[in-house]
Amino acid sequence: MVARRLLVTGGAGFIGSTFVRRRLAATTDHITVIDKLTYAGSLGTIKPVMDDPATADRVRFVQGDVADADLVRELVADCDAVVNFAAESHVDRSILDATAFLRTGVLGVHALLEAVRLADETRGDRGRVRYLQVSTDEVYGPVMSGLSVETDTVRPRSPYSAAKAAGELLVQAYHLTHGLDTLITRGANTYGPYQHPEKLIPLFITNALQDLPLPMYGDGSQRRDWMFVDDHADGIAFVLDQGAGGGTYNVAGHEERTNREVTATVLAALGKDWSLVRSVPDRPAHDVRYAMDPARLTEMGWLPRVTFDDGIARTVAWYQAHTPWWQAHRGGDWAAYYEQQYGWRLQQSTEA
Ligand code: NAD
Ligand code: TYD
Repeated sequence: MVARRLLVTGGAGFIGSTFVRRRLAATTDHITVIDKLTYAGSLGTIKPVMDDPATADRVRFVQGDVADADLVRELVADCDAVVNFAAESHVDRSILDATAFLRTGVLGVHALLEAVRLADETRGDRGRVRYLQVSTDEVYGPVMSGLSVETDTVRPRSPYSAAKAAGELLVQAYHLTHGLDTLITRGANTYGPYQHPEKLIPLFITNALQDLPLPMYGDGSQRRDWMFVDDHADGIAFVLDQGAGGGTYNVAGHEERTNREVTATVLAALGKDWSLVRSVPDRPAHDVRYAMDPARLTEMGWLPRVTFDDGIARTVAWYQAHTPWWQAHRGGDWAAYYEQQYGWRLQQSTEA
């Protein structure tokens, strides 16, 4: 395969950094990471490849905002493909304040698409830039039964998923209007090493490690399709290499679980007791179930490899071995966020 020059946005976050580490190991590609280093991003996630002599000269880091049109124009001019992971990614924070979700998810996507359009015009026959938008199954909204297929209408219900759907619609518009070579992936709920402790699985692991209560929204009957982060990163790489321009691809985990089941698996892996779990007042407009039809990628030959039980065991072991990493991510604005999100909920909590 010919080595490619990739621009990876949000590449210091959870899934983006996993993609960067795995892509550098699996190919001879050169990668420029642009990341704003919000509360969710940290250079520690890509330190392993920036320090390793086998990969250090193939990775470059630029701290910046994808909504900075001048900066992204300059970076896109030097690359063959853009993989856009950059986003505000937590539903609960989007309920508290959606401003940054829209700035990055709409204006940021627009700046990147404009930069790709300009690069295509400048290059002419010398090859177009491929643009992959990392999206989510949450754009489908809840599916009470059956499975979401790529041709379904999007029905987002949280400010987070609305911003993600808006980004997708812009990508599709630039493909149709300007002929950009675009791809969209809709990934399942993802877990694994380096995930910010605000998300369900690392929140419950790091709380349980400190014997703090685990705040389960409502009765915990909501269902998600779960995928280990290496599989999500590899699914995105597969679509980047094999996807048809203009295509949208479900990247499913094939592991549907209720939140109660997820919690029980995490507690068992830690050897902790269910009595830590508290039922707290629910998230507004909480989507009861996400589940995607995996057929499109399965027929192309891609499947996730890591089972839920194995993935949880690996994730729990990683958090047990990386206390300074997750403690740093429970610093900064964490105490204020935790109090705002969970203070009153825990006061009203009941036995789970
Ligand atoms: P994350 O919050 O861990 O990482 C996001 C990264 O983007 C951070 O490093 C942050 O600093 C960076 N960033 C944010 N705004 C930026 C901006 N304006 N300019 C440049 N960088 C910016 O999120 P994640 O869980 O790794 O998710 C990555 C992508 O995958 C997101 O687009 C998300 O919507 C999507 N996704 C996530 C999941 C999941 O379960 N985590 C599932 C499906 C899809
Ligand atoms: P989350 O990790 O926020 O992902 P998403 O909402 O994007 O699917 O949450 C996963 C599920 O866990 C979701 O149904 C909400 C639930 N949840 C809790 O019950 N308690 C919590 O403290 C959090 C963060 C999530």
